[in-house]
Amino acid sequence: MSRFDLKGRTALVTGGARGCGLSFAQGLAEGGADVAIFDVIDPAPEFYEIEKKYGVKTAYYKVDVSSKDSLKEGFDKFSKDFNNALDICVPCAGINRHIPFLEFTYETHEELLGVNVKGAYFTAQLAAKQMIANGTKHGSIVFVASIASYMAIRSQLSSSYCASKGAVRAMVPAIAKELVPYGIRVNSVSPGYVRTEMTASFPHLLESWKDEIMNGRVAEPDDIRGACIFLASDASSYMTGQDIRVDGGVTMW
Ligand SMILES: NC(=O)c1ccc[n+]([C@@H]2O[C@H](COP(=O)([O-])OP(=O)(O)OC[C@H]3O[C@@H](n4cnc5c(N)ncnc54)[C@H](O)[C@@H]3O)[C@@H](O)[C@H]2O)c1
Repeated sequence: MSRFDLKGRTALVTGGARGCGLSFAQGLAEGGADVAIFDVIDPAPEFYEIEKKYGVKTAYYKVDVSSKDSLKEGFDKFSKDFNNALDICVPCAGINRHIPFLEFTYETHEELLGVNVKGAYFTAQLAAKQMIANGTKHGSIVFVASIASYMAIRSQLSSSYCASKGAVRAMVPAIAKELVPYGIRVNSVSPGYVRTEMTASFPHLLESWKDEIMNGRVAEPDDIRGACIFLASDASSYMTGQDIRVDGGVTMW
């Protein structure tokens, strides 16, 4: 199990205030990593329990990943507070908009892409620069794509979201290739249907999705955590440019 050990490493998770991002932050801390999170909302109380529970350092920075200035300011503060350490980056912040394709506006599409695509892309870029500067031997970037990058989400109006997650999954191999010389690995996790605030507004869908899922169960954020820890750790050292689907069999059924 030592290859899963994250002691002495520093991780940054965007969208870590709740949902999947919070679960990833908890998992990385349980593995031994210090964890910083960027989010636009205040973290759930569980975030503040991490430090004591796992004996690691944590910090929250109010950062809007879709804003160039906010992201830069967040990285400046984070690198100062953590002495430029960074080994693991999980660009997880994301939004969805349930709007028909024929009614989507430029503004709303841009807003969604600003967070899900540009936010993830530039978070990873700034993280990679910090990893290159600090010379980490354990650099790992774990993007959060989605099954929406493989298929339409039944009963949800998700054209813009699917486009954004397709972009995330497509950028992974290209970025991975460019970061090979620096020893930084780049992969993604594609969660299936997960019970979070993002999906809470569709209670009827959460119920109906069960029939679509091979194992008949909507995931909890903790169900996705293992894949993130695996990709963040040396246990996945031969993986780069790849995507892991954690979807209860949805895309295989
Ligand atoms: N819930 C699902 O079924 C599901 C499935 C596949 C992929 N995902 C992806 O998982 C990730 C986490 O989603 P979740 O389900 O936990 O949803 P969530 O809404 O609970 O969490 C998203 C987090 O991102 C933060 N965020 C939003 N915009 C931001 C911004 N501009 N800057 C910084 N932070 C911002 C939110 O405040 C929130 O804390 C997202 O990328 C989402 O697309 C979710």
